[in-house]
Amino acid sequence: MLSCDTLIRNATVLDGSGADGQRMDVALRGGRICEIGPHLAYDASESMDADGLILAPGFVDVHTHDDTSVIRTPAMLPKLSQGVTTVIVGNCGISAAPVQLRGEPPDPMNLLGNADVFCYPTFAAYVAAIQAASPAVNVGALVGHTALRNNHMDRLDRFATEVEIDAMREQLKEALDNGALGLSSGLAYLSAYSASTEEVLSLATPLAAAGAVYTTHMRSETETILDAMQEAFEIGRLSHVPVIISHLKCAGINNWGRSEEVLRTLETARTEQYAGCDCYPYAAGSSTLDLRQVDERVKITITWSMPHPEIAGHTLAQIAALWGVKQLEAARQLQPAGAIYHSISEEDMRRILRHPATMIGSDGLPNDPLPHPRLWGTFPRVLGRYSRDEKLFSLPEAVHKMTGMPAQRFGLAERGMIRKGYFADLALFDAERIIDTATFSDPMQPAEGIAGVWVNGILSYTAHGATEKRGGRFLSRGKTKWIQ
Ligand code: ZN
Ligand code: CU
Repeated sequence: MLSCDTLIRNATVLDGSGADGQRMDVALRGGRICEIGPHLAYDASESMDADGLILAPGFVDVHTHDDTSVIRTPAMLPKLSQGVTTVIVGNCGISAAPVQLRGEPPDPMNLLGNADVFCYPTFAAYVAAIQAASPAVNVGALVGHTALRNNHMDRLDRFATEVEIDAMREQLKEALDNGALGLSSGLAYLSAYSASTEEVLSLATPLAAAGAVYTTHMRSETETILDAMQEAFEIGRLSHVPVIISHLKCAGINNWGRSEEVLRTLETARTEQYAGCDCYPYAAGSSTLDLRQVDERVKITITWSMPHPEIAGHTLAQIAALWGVKQLEAARQLQPAGAIYHSISEEDMRRILRHPATMIGSDGLPNDPLPHPRLWGTFPRVLGRYSRDEKLFSLPEAVHKMTGMPAQRFGLAERGMIRKGYFADLALFDAERIIDTATFSDPMQPAEGIAGVWVNGILSYTAHGATEKRGGRFLSRGKTKWIQ
């Protein structure tokens, strides 16, 4: 009889392409899928009866800030417990590498940790650190535009000179040579807002040669969002690079209801260039506390504050009342700080989430003491709440948005699908039971309904929790082609 390492029997296989499920057995050997078929006759060292549960490719969290977490907390429980087998780090213009700091990291690089966690002057050094840490999930990495700026500029409130841009481009090339997936920007943040379109464009040139992508936390997600989208698409069009708009949303009460025109703008761009987006399934965002986003009509929860750590968990309105000042003044006194902004309309979020161009990305903030629940809940919430309960999209489509689609777009070769010969990144879950349990008041809660997670063939998580075996590795950019 043929032998394999692991045999998963009687699973309903959703292969990640968006196709309907089929009852199959799946055999794993040497970290890969070696056979798929009904009633496989294999001699297996480990065998599991899936009893009709859904077996999907492991989920790809396309938008994370897990850059230093994959090294500092390699168990990666917030992600593994959701069925995530790959995280893409380096989003929103901020990355752990390549970074040479002078002093403390600027906002919002401080989301990744204090100065002492930035110890990767080259991208190659970061790759080596991931391999040494052997995290529970695979790691693909983008290079942050803001990180590059901070390496070469004495101040960030101006545009870069040609000499500085050349130095930034050289560092980006080193990263691309060592497997980086692309470049991310965070143009809305003051640390990159002064960068011109041309500055980003001149960095995008080497991306095309490398077959890499450009992801962007756009210059605006509020009133001028359409201009910001045009800027992103122009950068992609002129440099022949696919564009991924990060956490697409209409932020701020004045912009509620604009998701239709936003999606129409995306659709128009998609007729002439590769473009897509990601989205998290919540009507609230989270980042560092931004004075420009303080709005008395919006509930803002402070999740951390450097000068006032004791105040975490209170709303800005409560703090302002307590201190007898306006919210804007309270926010000023709390800086530097982190916040959750309940500034998105549920209807807009749903419309963006269900769009066929949209992937799923958590944007979770792992260093936040009171993190937005998206850190622990995103993927089960999409599958349980938005697919099963609210029927925004079918289950195969939901799975496709978090597996096959991101693998194709980011160049994660031989991943994101259940195919013979592909890497054995797999998530087994109960479609009837899967649901997020993390809430805004109790955010660090593992989801329900995940029965098994394999990373490169290693069973890493079961219904009883983590197995303590970690199979993740660094993923270099592969030659996968974008399918619009
Ligand atoms: Zn962002
Ligand atoms: Cu982000």
